[in-house]
Amino acid sequence: MEIVQAIESRHSVRQYIDRNLEENVIKALESEIVKCNKESGLNIQLVTDNAEAFDCFFGHYGKFENVKNFIALVGKKSKDLDEKLGYYGERLAILAQILGLNTCFVGLSYSKKKSNVKLEKGEKLRLVIALGYGQSSGVKHKSKAKERLVKIKKGVAVPEWFERGIELAMLAPTALNQQKFVITFDGKKADIHAKKGFYSKVDLGIVKYNFEVGAGSKNFKVKF
Ligand SMILES: Cc1cc2nc3c(=O)[nH]c(=O)nc-3n(C[C@H](O)[C@H](O)[C@H](O)COP(=O)(O)O)c2cc1C
Repeated sequence: MEIVQAIESRHSVRQYIDRNLEENVIKALESEIVKCNKESGLNIQLVTDNAEAFDCFFGHYGKFENVKNFIALVGKKSKDLDEKLGYYGERLAILAQILGLNTCFVGLSYSKKKSNVKLEKGEKLRLVIALGYGQSSGVKHKSKAKERLVKIKKGVAVPEWFERGIELAMLAPTALNQQKFVITFDGKKADIHAKKGFYSKVDLGIVKYNFEVGAGSKNFKVKF
């Protein structure tokens, strides 16, 4: 499956079947996590066979079922930590989709204490991505109208790559489906900003990843 197709078919899934991750799937995720950590300086970790983290009040309240595997999004406290975790987290969620898994970013509905994630000095566990074989493949989220998410300088012609970037950005998962981002275009350069909101900087990184895939990295390259 291509990355674009995976972005189009990814939807949050909170209920999974009781099936362990296959060895080759674990290997592929771990090898991509090593690459992401090398590139970013983050300490993202794959946790398998841990049924406790979601067996808590918030997990049940959030209707999570059979979550035993997750990716812990961890890094040293810094100004751009959330955005980086969103960007690399989405890259991993999309790989998981390609590998036949379903996912859900989770900021609240799990127990940090029971997650068993190892933190180095100065590191923070900001959120996790639940993953596994879904009971369903989820449903497409409702999106704000494009006009509310995009601001284009008056009189400027919009290139094809910008339109493709927007299409994929609108499919990005955001906390509470809030879509608190604005994509701008001044005739040459695209930019994406986060508005104030719950986890909106994590959302920003996720949206930037999708936009970069749609626009192509020669037109929009995310740098940290
Ligand atoms: C940063 C972030 C945090 C999230 N936290 C939670 C959570 O705590 N509980 C939950 O059930 N869903 C959580 N979600 C999933 C969102 O509700 C979901 O992505 C959104 O409704 C859009 O739907 P989609 O992922 O199916 O496109 C989170 C998503 C993101 C991006």
